[in-house]
Amino acid sequence: MLVLGCGKNPDAAQFTPGSPEAIGLDIYTRMACDACHSVNAKLNRGPTLNGQFGKEIRHTDGSVVIINDQYIRESIIAPRKFIAEGFPPIMPSYKPVLNEQDIENLIAYIKALK
Ligand code: HEC
Repeated sequence: MLVLGCGKNPDAAQFTPGSPEAIGLDIYTRMACDACHSVNAKLNRGPTLNGQFGKEIRHTDGSVVIINDQYIRESIIAPRKFIAEGFPPIMPSYKPVLNEQDIENLIAYIKALK
């Protein structure tokens, strides 16, 4: 039994092995996304990704967007395009290291974070 909020990947057990969410979690861990993004709502160097899908995010240029598939994709490929308010622009682009399938799996994982 896993207790939410304890440990590094509290939700690892909730995904079916081999599902997009489970593969996404694996990529998330291997790419060290968790070095900056918490998935359990604790503050970190980047915004938490927990429960963010469908929510609005304000950028330093004043624009507000809804966090959806397209926004997550852009955030991973071109993180400097929009900077979330309150955070430094330190996220690297993962364009050279992640393929389309990797990004799909990451999106599935981030969507599942509630
Ligand atoms: C060096 C720290 C760092 C790493 C590593 C990192 N990020 Fe980020 N990320 C940030 C910061 C800071 C922001 C907010 C500033 C911005 O919008 O660029 C951000 C923004 C985002 C956003 C937009 C969320 C929002 O609320 O606007 C997503 C989605 C995201 N990152 C996903 C990822 C994924 C997936 C990985 C791994 C492949 C990753 N990040 C790796 C620091 C990081």
